[in-house]
Amino acid sequence: MTLGDALAAATARLAEAGVESARLEAELLLARACDDCARALLYAELHRELSAEQEAAFEANVSRRVQREPLAYVLGEWGFRRLTLKTDQRALIPRPETEIVVERALEHIRDEADPEVLDVGTGTGAIALAIADEHAGARITAIDASPEALALAQENRELTGVNGRVDLVEHDLTAGLGRSQFDLVVSNPPYVEPDDLPTLQPEVRDWEPHVALVASGATEEVARAATEALRPGGWLVLETAAGTGERIQELLQELGYERVTITPDLAGRDRVVEGKWKS
Ligand SMILES: C[S@@+](CC[C@H](N)C(=O)[O-])C[C@H]1O[C@@H](n2cnc3c(N)ncnc32)[C@H](O)[C@@H]1O
Repeated sequence: MTLGDALAAATARLAEAGVESARLEAELLLARACDDCARALLYAELHRELSAEQEAAFEANVSRRVQREPLAYVLGEWGFRRLTLKTDQRALIPRPETEIVVERALEHIRDEADPEVLDVGTGTGAIALAIADEHAGARITAIDASPEALALAQENRELTGVNGRVDLVEHDLTAGLGRSQFDLVVSNPPYVEPDDLPTLQPEVRDWEPHVALVASGATEEVARAATEALRPGGWLVLETAAGTGERIQELLQELGYERVTITPDLAGRDRVVEGKWKS
């Protein structure tokens, strides 16, 4: 089979399965299935023949995607800030809006030599590892209630080479977050309401861990627990569900946080709420 035929057939199958960017994803899957395909696609050598091995690998990847398994799980890795993280069903796929969370978090520790940071619900380790990667002195404690997610975060920690500065700890946020020791608490907690789960895309609803998606009140819980965990003058940076920014902003103000602001994501939706714990 030629690259061109493989691409056309896969694009049709993915489109039929309801995948939005079918051609682009078919190209990415083809590039993954064989080392030299990416270059061939770039130069449009679509008449080239795939080897039997390459064809089998491509077929396997396309079949997974046809089942609406997320592209990041099929590829097994995904870009986040400057890192390439391993991704699989053990944890949520890091999202572009969470890169804004990291941006805001870094802003508050930029001038500190060795800030103590707590990442609540670390998943793949995305936020913790990106902060460690982009702030040479930061020391991060990253907690998660899911041992599966922590195992993946550990693999990512090895890959990203920030070993000495990120501690991964199995811990449930409902047990509290410690006392007055952190310069920054950052979190992208689960925030899908249970009733909204059926409305999500199949890639999310059927493949990503529900413990990473669904919770009522986890955002509020982090905001409350962080009042104990932050040192006076430390910062809380929270990713919030679209449409809840103002409510979380008010909660932070009621709890005693100062300089509370909302940052929108690239689509203009309220996404990140942050505040400074009173000095
Ligand atoms: C939305 S995911 C965020 C993952 C990662 N920080 C990111 O932004 O890609 C939420 C994470 O919180 C964890 N989690 C859910 N409930 C928790 C709890 N009560 N205590 C600690 N972690 C929890 C989940 O296992 C999941 O990894």
